[in-house]
Amino acid sequence: MLNDAVQAQRTAEVLLKVEGLSKAFVAGKPVFADVSFTLARGEFVCIIGHSGCGKTTVLNVLAGLDTASSGNVFMAGREVTGPGLERGVVFQGHALMPWLTVRQNIAFAVKSRWPEWGRAEVSAQVEKFVALVGLTAAIDKKPSQLSGGMKQRVGIARAFCISPKMLLLDEPFGALDALTRGTIQDELLSIVRQTQQTVFMITHDVDEAILLADRILLMSNGSESAGRYLPGGIAEVVVNPLPRERSRASLHHLDGYYELRNHIVDFLVSRAVAH
Ligand SMILES: Nc1ncnc2c1ncn2[C@@H]1O[C@H](COP(=O)(O)OP(=O)(O)O)[C@@H](O)[C@H]1O
Ligand SMILES: [Mg+2]
Repeated sequence: MLNDAVQAQRTAEVLLKVEGLSKAFVAGKPVFADVSFTLARGEFVCIIGHSGCGKTTVLNVLAGLDTASSGNVFMAGREVTGPGLERGVVFQGHALMPWLTVRQNIAFAVKSRWPEWGRAEVSAQVEKFVALVGLTAAIDKKPSQLSGGMKQRVGIARAFCISPKMLLLDEPFGALDALTRGTIQDELLSIVRQTQQTVFMITHDVDEAILLADRILLMSNGSESAGRYLPGGIAEVVVNPLPRERSRASLHHLDGYYELRNHIVDFLVSRAVAH
């Protein structure tokens, strides 16, 4: 029996197609190999795996900031060969320009996206997204005057403010306290649902993936035993069977939640790193 999510995935328009990616920093020992998946337009996909399995590297290839050793990435049928404004990235480290204020960091992105906009339009857009991440009071501060969580929120505002077709998020909420994290997760969900944005997000947090993702890619680490090297890769794709209208508060009351959670945790504990 096909559930709704599987059915939706099969009939939806493919926005991003990843084919046979591998990346080797050391010849003959690729971090991962044969990574293939697609993202449907409007879909939210999370990827989970231990440190070092290559999640950030995959995301950087999708962003056009790194190249794969083999394989291809296509967005809306066109090969990705470099960064583009239709893909917004939130980096694991915030990657802000340290000499610019919060306002200027975000305005820089808005102006690159809409070079024809006047000063007032740019300001309004910047202020809207700074408010969204709760940083209005810090808008004229520089990154060095902000905490790690605040810098991460600037990175989120900067990626979201240009309304990219696709968001690539590398553990965007990792540095946030639980309360802020919850609020921003809710905001993210409501923005991407309204705008039909497609999201590829790396997270370490199983509950976060279950809350946000339509599908969850489980990624394994490369391993070596008896002199034989096995690259990492996508070990399994889990379709989230929970109703799409789920909320943080209701999550653990939903049928199927514990089964799904245990399945992912079991993967991380016993299968993600082959010995
Ligand atoms: N520029 C690089 N040069 C050499 N090795 C790298 C480079 N970037 C990443 N690696 C290695 O590739 C592996 C995967 O890294 P990464 O994609 O950051 O993993 P993850 O995000 O899953 O923690 C790690 O072993 C890391 O040390
Ligand atoms: Mg990483």
